[in-house]
Amino acid sequence: MSDGPAIVVENLIKQFPGAARPVVDGCSFSVAPGELVVLLGPSGCGKTTLLKMVNRLYEPTAGRIIVNGVDAGQVPVAALRRQIGYVIQQTGLFPHMRIEDNIAVVPRLLRWPRARINDRIDELLALIGLPHDYRKRYPRQLSGGEQQRVGIARALAADPPVMLMDEPFGALDAITRTRLQDELLSLQSKVHKTILFVTHDVDEALRLADKVIVMRAGKLVQFDRPLKLLTRPADEFVTKLLSTGDPLRRLSLIEVGSIAAQLAHSSRGSGTAPCLKTTTDLRTALSLLLEGGEEQLPVVDEGGQIIGTLSFDTLRVAMQQLEQPVVDSHEQGR
Ligand SMILES: Nc1ncnc2c1ncn2[C@@H]1O[C@H](COP(=O)(O)OP(=O)(O)O)[C@@H](O)[C@H]1O
Ligand SMILES: [Mg+2]
Repeated sequence: MSDGPAIVVENLIKQFPGAARPVVDGCSFSVAPGELVVLLGPSGCGKTTLLKMVNRLYEPTAGRIIVNGVDAGQVPVAALRRQIGYVIQQTGLFPHMRIEDNIAVVPRLLRWPRARINDRIDELLALIGLPHDYRKRYPRQLSGGEQQRVGIARALAADPPVMLMDEPFGALDAITRTRLQDELLSLQSKVHKTILFVTHDVDEALRLADKVIVMRAGKLVQFDRPLKLLTRPADEFVTKLLSTGDPLRRLSLIEVGSIAAQLAHSSRGSGTAPCLKTTTDLRTALSLLLEGGEEQLPVVDEGGQIIGTLSFDTLRVAMQQLEQPVVDSHEQGR
């Protein structure tokens, strides 16, 4: 793999035969290795079409896509797809095949030795948090969320550096969906894939993304980190799509640790009240304050030591600082 960007998209255009206008209309951007970039935009804006050009399910009308330093249009499709895992909403699991055989599809195509495939299945089931005895089950014997996890495991099977995910959690209930978002973030902190993730769900995008590409009618409108989108929306469309003025949405992107200097000094806990962690986001902190009826809550560091307390006043000050958008906790990476 080269040291440059993992994916470069240059002036990409897709116009279907007979269509009046291009569906993807001159998009350019690049994605660094290990970055999770979300393509966000309303239904029909061209997100899926763009994604499908990366693994050549569709061929571009014009423009180029470079994957790991190689022009995707110039390599055999099979070689390209070996570097790219693909996860879709309908999982695409083969219903008549056991979970182990579903996961093993690509390694078998690549003629891995039997023992290596066997080990890889175990490793992946552990990674996605499914019990070992699920190997022998069929997809219909799993819940929707479990099936989606298997879809992710299958895409990861041959350890491709790039993952394309097209609304993978779109069909799940809200609780399962949030859980899988958390799991994806935790998985990503271990596997460091370069991920292009498509969604039309703003909260999902803000939650998962290192950076978000906002698309409208085939065009790239803004490409920025989540907090930057909320504090510096490029235009009226981004402002509306993201409800950038929503204070709760802004609070959800800031971690308690990033405002440590503003916490009141204290070394005492408050008895039964919950402790906040430095990684707790401010929206969660606010709801804990409201639920518990406390005026303030203790904040603990990773070692469990109390480093101060957070109050409604602390939140108010943090909000006011956001109005002058210079703070960007994501700028330091996560
Ligand atoms: N194979 C195709 N042939 C013709 N039109 C298509 C094809 N695939 C998608 N489109 C059109 O392209 C537009 C964008 O579709 P899509 O990329 O699926 O949007 P999104 O994923 O953002 O909802 C839609 O108007 C859709 O009808
Ligand atoms: Mg789509």
